[in-house]
Amino acid sequence: MLSKTNLSLFVFINLINLSSALVCPTYLPWQQNASQYRLIKSCQTDCQFPTVDENHAVCLGIYSNYSGEIFIKQLGAISSDKQCLMSKQCILERDMMKSQTFTCCCSTDNCTLNWTSMSPARAIAINSTTINNVVIIEQEHFSWKLFLMIFIFLMIIILITFIFSLWRSLKTSNKKKNKTSFLKSPSSTSLMEQLFFSAQEIVIGKNSTVYKAIFKKDVAALKVYKQTNLLMWKNEVTILRSIKHESIIKVISEGQFGTHLYLLLPYYDNGTLQSYLRTSNRVLTSKQCLTFLHSLASAISYLHTGQSDIHMPIVHRDIKSSNVLVANDELGLCLADFGVATILPQVLTEKDFVQIGTMRYMAPELLEGVITYTHDALYSVDMYALALVFWEILMQCDIYPLTVYQAPYEEYLINNQEESSFASQIYDIVVIRGLRPTLRRQVNDKKHTLLRDELCSLIDACWTTDADMRMKAQTLVFKLNQVIQSRAE
Ligand SMILES: *[C@@H]1O[C@H](CO)[C@@H](O)[C@H](O)[C@H]1NC(C)=O
Ligand SMILES: *[C@@H]1O[C@H](CO)[C@@H](O)[C@H](O)[C@H]1NC(C)=O
Ligand SMILES: *[C@@H]1O[C@H](CO)[C@@H](O)[C@H](O)[C@H]1NC(C)=O
Ligand SMILES: *[C@@H]1O[C@H](CO)[C@@H](O)[C@H](O)[C@H]1NC(C)=O
Ligand SMILES: *[C@@H]1O[C@H](CO)[C@@H](O)[C@H](O)[C@H]1NC(C)=O
Repeated sequence: MLSKTNLSLFVFINLINLSSALVCPTYLPWQQNASQYRLIKSCQTDCQFPTVDENHAVCLGIYSNYSGEIFIKQLGAISSDKQCLMSKQCILERDMMKSQTFTCCCSTDNCTLNWTSMSPARAIAINSTTINNVVIIEQEHFSWKLFLMIFIFLMIIILITFIFSLWRSLKTSNKKKNKTSFLKSPSSTSLMEQLFFSAQEIVIGKNSTVYKAIFKKDVAALKVYKQTNLLMWKNEVTILRSIKHESIIKVISEGQFGTHLYLLLPYYDNGTLQSYLRTSNRVLTSKQCLTFLHSLASAISYLHTGQSDIHMPIVHRDIKSSNVLVANDELGLCLADFGVATILPQVLTEKDFVQIGTMRYMAPELLEGVITYTHDALYSVDMYALALVFWEILMQCDIYPLTVYQAPYEEYLINNQEESSFASQIYDIVVIRGLRPTLRRQVNDKKHTLLRDELCSLIDACWTTDADMRMKAQTLVFKLNQVIQSRAE
């Protein structure tokens, strides 16, 4: 269930910078005891009035018109677009999908309680007591006729939904399921409304924002792309729908809600590998360590080895600990964020080799711009980044002396320089000086010398400067299997 604080957290990021607290009434029918919609007047008892401190939020109202009376379906705060931010008044706009549903967005306190119709003529047509444009409709009007109408209305909707889903299941059983369809089923609209209303921000990224949301009573991760990243969203959907691996994130659903391109993914309680490792004094058992390494390596191997009948070879191009999730049993990892991943065609073109990914995890040949135009070169770039993630895991392993979590290369970076020099510092460390994060093989603890040595060697083989010499993902999986088996004996 959502609490008051969660609701005020519920704000989307936006384009315009505007900093002022806003009071938006919040009414979520599924949180109330009563199942039906309410009149504006009842907001005084049924609504909450959280102050939304985040920038660029606006109030949103969804209303319904039953026989000329306007009811609240939902009230809340959402992301703003420019149009909403400029609107001081709640002007009802007809929902394109459902003729009796109206929405408005506006950016003044309590504005969703004071709606007006588009044209004055239409506003007058509604016979309700209006005081300062605040519509107050007497509760007594809520007669049995209305109940009957709502009932019939709901029955019709249920019937239509039933017929539609029947028709759909018949159609899909005949045809092969069209996997790249980005359409959402009309019956899911209110489910989507609930989903978006329950969303709480977790991670704001450059191209997308991830929210924790409720989907069919379960917690899920909602990844929302900005409209300008349509291609990136399509790319991620296409790739994730075409592959299936236990250590690669699965898509629950995808589509467009309003102007938001979204991807609904399973929620991982333990968060990203980076935040997991960063948690104070985190020590992984050696078993955990090996399953982490193995699951990640097998995911990459699966991507790189295109099974022609299942999928073409894929490169991830943005492997880093913050794009890896920790499984709920804490015994495996799950690769996520395929926004810049690429399905490799038979013939590569120059655009397949653009400098992409995260600076810190970029292979030396990519930083230097001397990458060779082959499939293997692209796999090597992934392997290098994988080695850095492996190093991050090994550092927190119980077979390794206790260390405080550090991102790769943090040990060499000089902090007191301007931020703009981060790129040149990385270039200097990785390319010019040829350094890699420190691997300490010789430590006092004699017990785990063999395992530590084996893992260090594997990491070394994956981040070596010569891209052609880097270990392949398949070899890495093979070697890790050997290590795991030898420990079991
Ligand atoms: C729902 O009903 C319970 C008692 O049955 C009451 O304690 C609670 O406050 C009600 N909640 C709302 C939102 O009306
Ligand atoms: C609501 O519906 C009635 C007819 O049932 C119509 O006369 C009225 O204009 C509608 N209200 C709005 C705001 O469109
Ligand atoms: C918003 O409306 C509620 C209920 O009418 C009221 O208690 C609250 O003070 C109002 N807030 C603002 C900022 O107008
Ligand atoms: C609205 O209702 C009142 C009674 O509640 C009535 O006197 C008035 O004539 C009605 N107005 C219209 C435009 O129907
Ligand atoms: C409602 O909006 C109108 C502008 O359309 C404004 O004049 C009026 O003061 C508002 N009423 C309240 C109670 O905020």
